[in-house]
Amino acid sequence: MITIIGAGKVGTAAAIYITYEELDDVLLIDVIQGRPQGEALDLSHALSILGKSVRVYGSNDFRDMAGSDIVLVTAGFPRGPGMTREQLVEKNAEVVRDIAKKVAEYAPNASVILTTNPLDSMVYVFYKASKMPRYKVMGFSGVLDSGRMRYYIASRLKVSPAVVDAVVIGQHGEKMFPVPRLSRVAGAPLEKFLGSEDIKKVVEDTIKAGAKIIELRGYSSSYGPGAGLMLMAKAIKKDEKKMFLTSVCLDGEYGLHDICVNVPAILGRNGVEKIIEYDLTPEERKLFEESVKAIRENVAQVPPKYLE
Ligand code: 2OP
Repeated sequence: MITIIGAGKVGTAAAIYITYEELDDVLLIDVIQGRPQGEALDLSHALSILGKSVRVYGSNDFRDMAGSDIVLVTAGFPRGPGMTREQLVEKNAEVVRDIAKKVAEYAPNASVILTTNPLDSMVYVFYKASKMPRYKVMGFSGVLDSGRMRYYIASRLKVSPAVVDAVVIGQHGEKMFPVPRLSRVAGAPLEKFLGSEDIKKVVEDTIKAGAKIIELRGYSSSYGPGAGLMLMAKAIKKDEKKMFLTSVCLDGEYGLHDICVNVPAILGRNGVEKIIEYDLTPEERKLFEESVKAIRENVAQVPPKYLE
């Protein structure tokens, strides 16, 4: 069973993609009475209409996650118009710390993927508070940021996103680092297809994408995160050993310690099975380090009581 903590827009979008794919039964957990049960009932009707054979349940009781091999954490306060993700740090650290304790108690062997913002700081809080192995704790966001970059490249070139590989590493925030040199179209370097002005625009659009959605519709993204969560959960469930850009806690990789940041990783049955280290140019390394610095500054604002 896959447990989704938080039956808001991201949690329910993930539940829709996961059940449509018939990946596994889904349990939605939320602290609001009736909400996960109502979402589960509506989605159960949809699955009945579609003739799907997986089931979806709703609960307010965290103990029900026992036995889940994958837990998706989508709970927390969302970003509103004009806000940065970093501003949510203190409020969401408390939420994530409480959830970390519950997951460690009821589903200690699960692979966990978080979406709560500010993402990289919340992965760090979960990792510290849960004391679970670092390869079991992942942050969703690199898939979203690189998926957005892929979209902007494909739109400019009028090709399918399926032929585009885009790479975004570092912080899930204003200091995220889209890496044009490592992005490719049909296997060839992006620079072959787009000039420097166009690439600059793609990078800007990618960084601003999350805020743009909020500005347009008044609340933050959900379909992108839902789709990406499903792909990561599928890679773990089916032991696919595919590469995902995901926030992982580093212990020497990229010469970094005690930080959770988006880098490429192979996901399989055991969670993060391998972290890939890109060879960055000195200029890229500088941008990556600026991104890491922004995460460290944000983590420094987490009250220490939420890290244990
Ligand atoms: C996003 O990038 C809100 O972090 C979320 O859409």
